[in-house]
Amino acid sequence: MRKFGDKSTCIFHDLGKSIGGFVMLNEVAKERATLKESDIVDARTLKTSHKRLAEILQPGMTVLDVGCGTGAITSGITEMVGPNGRVIGIDNNLELIEKARQKYKNIPGLTFEIADVYNLPYHSEFDIVTSARVLQWLENPQTALHQMVKSTKHNGQVLVLDYNHTKISWEPEIPVTMQSFYDTFLQWRSSAGMDNEIADHLSKMFKEFELTNIKVTDQSEMTKRSDNDFQTYITILAGVASSKGKQMVNDGTITESQRVRAEGDFRKWIKECAKSQTMYLLAVEGTKKSD
Ligand SMILES: C[S@@+](CC[C@H](N)C(=O)[O-])C[C@H]1O[C@@H](n2cnc3c(N)ncnc32)[C@H](O)[C@@H]1O
Repeated sequence: MRKFGDKSTCIFHDLGKSIGGFVMLNEVAKERATLKESDIVDARTLKTSHKRLAEILQPGMTVLDVGCGTGAITSGITEMVGPNGRVIGIDNNLELIEKARQKYKNIPGLTFEIADVYNLPYHSEFDIVTSARVLQWLENPQTALHQMVKSTKHNGQVLVLDYNHTKISWEPEIPVTMQSFYDTFLQWRSSAGMDNEIADHLSKMFKEFELTNIKVTDQSEMTKRSDNDFQTYITILAGVASSKGKQMVNDGTITESQRVRAEGDFRKWIKECAKSQTMYLLAVEGTKKSD
């Protein structure tokens, strides 16, 4: 079995970077990033799940939502920019885009397109280009950010919302089986080139792309047992164990019994002990220089 930190994984990673292997690593990241269950994404709204964007949107704006999934947040953007605005949601997952088109059809000013963030077909077109929880899944977030900046109008804004997965916390501690699964999950992600701490690296990346007026807003997501939507959010990691966990079993990172045990112990912990979970999330915005 290959585990992160084992030579086999490290060699694979190095090969990916050297022998024309960007494509190879890209394929690994793409496979690992593929969203199999969209329930949690469907449950999001602009006002609850992309709060900083909701604060800066103005009627009449043009907005590009990169990695829009099934369009739950994107449709909220359309409501805020109103009939004189224009909103495009893009995603590289055909199934998700089809769901979005079906669910939000006939909304004037809103379109969904299949596109890859690594190759966006836009040039200085949008007042705001945003991505929420997308760069965390990419092996090359710099290229993605470059494409997002390219798509933004001069004096327009780029706004990225993303996690630092190493700073998640639970009250009380989660079972050791789930902690061990989670640690291995983060290693599995980073062995495909993903940055588990991307939230804390964004402002440096923004400076490198000469974005100005950089502002960082803490958007950490806390859920408490007394919240109505506690079950939706506290079960996120159980969902990771049942979806991404199966991919990890298939590629030999963990065994099925380790996966089942971690998920089972965690669900029991939710039922009997869980008080709260906090996912560390930052919104980072910057302005593209004028011409
Ligand atoms: C965790 S979901 C976030 C969805 C939504 N933005 C939200 O916050 O709920 C990440 C999304 O990024 C999309 N994605 C991943 N890699 C992508 C790429 N290279 N180009 C475009 N979309 C991508 C996935 O298909 C998925 O819909």
